[in-house]
This record gives sequence, C-alpha cells and structure tokens, in this order.
Amino acid sequence: MIRLFDPSDLESVQRLLSSIPEVVPWSADDFLLASQRNFCLRVAEEEETVSGLVAFRIIGDEAEILNLAVDSRQRRRGIGSRLMEEMIEACKAAGVKTIFLEVRESNCGARNFYSGMGFTEAGRRGRYYRQPVEDALVLTRRVE
Ligand SMILES: CC(C)(COP(=O)(O)OP(=O)(O)OC[C@H]1O[C@@H](n2cnc3c(N)ncnc32)[C@H](O)[C@@H]1OP(=O)(O)O)[C@@H](O)C(=O)NCCC(=O)NCCS
Repeated sequence: MIRLFDPSDLESVQRLLSSIPEVVPWSADDFLLASQRNFCLRVAEEEETVSGLVAFRIIGDEAEILNLAVDSRQRRRGIGSRLMEEMIEACKAAGVKTIFLEVRESNCGARNFYSGMGFTEAGRRGRYYRQPVEDALVLTRRVE
C-alpha cells in the first residue's frame, strides 16, 4: 500500500533511510521543514511496516524528487515503481509538466530504475555530492 506520510512514521522512516547508504538520512528537523514547506511524502507500507519512501516537491509546473528509497530486503518487488507511479499521478493532478531529480553517477541500480521509469539525462552537476565527492546526473521526464 502506498499512502501519505504520517508524523507517526518518523522513527521507522528515519531507520529505513539510515540503513541505505545511497540516500541522505533526513533528521527529524528535515522532516519538520519538509512539512512546513509543503513537500509531498508518500510511504510504502506492508503488514504495518514501512518499506519505502518518496519525497518530492512541486513548484509551478515542475516537480523535483528529493528522496527515494526502498528497504534493501524488499527490493525488486515493484515497490519503487509503485512509489514513482503514485508520485507521477500526484504530479499530473497538480498540473506538473516536468519531473527532475539528481542521482550519483555511480548509482547504476537507481539509474537503471529511473531509465525504466522514462527518465533521461538532461545534465550534470559537477562535484555535487559529498562523502564521497561525486558528480550528479540530472535526470528528467515529461508528465503526459
Ligand atoms: C532505486 C530503488 C528505489 C528501486 O526500488 P525497487 O523497489 O527495487 O524497484 P522496482 O522493484 O520497482 O524495480 C523496477 C525496475 O527497475 C530496475 N532496477 C531496480 N533496481 C535495480 C538495480 N539495483 N539494478 C538494476 N536495475 C534495477 C529493474 O529494471 C527493475 O525491474 P525488474 O526487477 O523486473 O528487473 C532502490 O533500489 C533503492 O532504494 N536504492 C537505494 C536508494 C537510491 O539509490 N535511491 C535513489 C537516489 S537518487
């Protein structure tokens, strides 16, 4: 099931994010800021356990994916795709025309995933990431 993030999910989502080296582990303050700034958060839940998260924001007719993560024990079961489909539906409903995101160049798994979801490379941000320093690829997709 994909549903809206609820503040009671905070602990389990933080635990999930801190177990995944490819994503930035948001602090409680980050989640507070996200809610104050009207960021959109959806979680995947199975048997009362949170197994994934997508965070995005919509600005005018553009959306940016800020975080996407699926529990490493639950991957390749379509959860990431379901989170993205929900996000794309929300974007459509809000009149978004373009979605974009940044991904580490070395993150081949996520790049393959995004490619399958229709994202293409639109640019590069040099030395965008820290620990380790690495370029980000900017990926984009039109919302039909
Ligand atoms: C990227 C991520 C969210 C995908 O979640 P998921 O639930 O495993 O994705 P799905 O099961 O919906 O995968 C759909 C398709 O994407 C592709 N894909 C997903 N993970 C992949 C991987 N590690 N390597 C290659 N292709 C992959 C496959 O084509 C897959 O279809 P298949 O399983 O039938 O072959 C997950 O691997 C993850 O949390 N990664 C770590 C965090 C991360 O990198 N986030 C993105 C930061 S920008």
